[in-house]
Amino acid sequence: MSSFKSPRGVRDILPPETARWRALESQFAGVCERAGYGELVSPMFEDAGVFARLGEDTAVVSKEMYDFFDKKGRRMALRPELTASAARAFIEHHPEVPWKVWYSGPQFRYEQPQAGRYRQFMQVGIELFGVDDPHSDVEVIALGWEFLRSLGLQDMTLLVNTLGDSESRSAYAGVLGDYLAESELSEASVETALKNPLRVLDSKREQDQQVIAGAPSCLDHLTSEAADRFAAVRSGLDALGISYEVSPRLVRGLDYYTHTAFEYVSNSLTSAQNALGGGGRYDGLIEALGGTSTAGIGFALGADRILLACDTEETFLLSETLLDVFIVDITDGQAALTLSQELRSAGISADRAWGSRSLKAQMKAANRSNARFALIVGTDEQASGTVSVKDLETSQQTQISQDAIVEHLQSRLKQL
Ligand code: HAM
Repeated sequence: MSSFKSPRGVRDILPPETARWRALESQFAGVCERAGYGELVSPMFEDAGVFARLGEDTAVVSKEMYDFFDKKGRRMALRPELTASAARAFIEHHPEVPWKVWYSGPQFRYEQPQAGRYRQFMQVGIELFGVDDPHSDVEVIALGWEFLRSLGLQDMTLLVNTLGDSESRSAYAGVLGDYLAESELSEASVETALKNPLRVLDSKREQDQQVIAGAPSCLDHLTSEAADRFAAVRSGLDALGISYEVSPRLVRGLDYYTHTAFEYVSNSLTSAQNALGGGGRYDGLIEALGGTSTAGIGFALGADRILLACDTEETFLLSETLLDVFIVDITDGQAALTLSQELRSAGISADRAWGSRSLKAQMKAANRSNARFALIVGTDEQASGTVSVKDLETSQQTQISQDAIVEHLQSRLKQL
């Protein structure tokens, strides 16, 4: 008989590793909420049209979308990212601006799976709607940077660029298109260059790399307003002491960006998976989705990759989960049943052995559980209404009346 496995490109995350994911998310929530962002929870699937605005020529939309027709024949898609969903929610609920939200959850893209690249992956991110002050770009970039640093990551580079306003962008697209038409591109990129020349800068194909390296720079085709805006963002980052590299080829893989684009890159991971996250400004997105013109900026970070980088930098490692108590009952199991309940209600974490196994086997389980104390109930203890408390670090053992056990443990745990 065949047995099932998880589908290609997706994976189970098991305990105790899951605790690390929860810790990452709660650390992110803390950083965001200290900066006035509230949590947005939006659906995992949307009308597929919501995501069409990411760009018909982007891989995310043209090749990787998990789309399907529901039972009434409506075309739906599992979300490949959350910015478009947040923009849809903004238009639907018209909250007051500035609207500052953070989110966390799985995204879905039909990609070629490899380490750090999955078909279901987890993102945390923020979006800020209704502010176009260049200092808001700085606040957003700094928040992601500080969060990554708070995990202990050090070997990272912050890349920043500007795509300018629509005038700068179309001037640049023209110049770039002419340059690409004269270059030796891969077959797939020749087609992309005709439709959307900026997308070619995002190509990872070996044959395109030399052409990309020699491409004209978007920074030479900015309007003076766009250039001033970028200068203001850079000086804001300087004022915060955040170092960065200006990367004129950074266009990012989605089409909605205007002005600032940025990426947090890990130098400890290989290049196919070294983008820990990225984002940028998308001042035209709300309008493209049918809302009234509203500025927006945000980023998303890939939690799967962040944890890979944490592994290589040996930081944000799992702390050994310490249970307070492990109960060893070698009588009839009644003590384990009632004691575990009593201790947990009093806020003491407690686990227990199962089955009528020997003292030796149960003590082995207690040691494996990483608990601080073993509570042992044998026939002597049962007869005298007591419990033996064994300190699993020092091996010291004391006998305590069952009525006083909660108080005894609470005072000893407090002293640790
Ligand atoms: P993105 O660059 O497509 O941007 O994704 C952000 C991050 O998600 C990537 O840098 C990477 O760490 C992670 N990621 C993407 N695809 C995968 C995958 N297949 N497996 C594992 N991790 C992955 C966005 O999604 C934009 N919504 C960011 C944004 C927010 N821009 C403005 N606001």
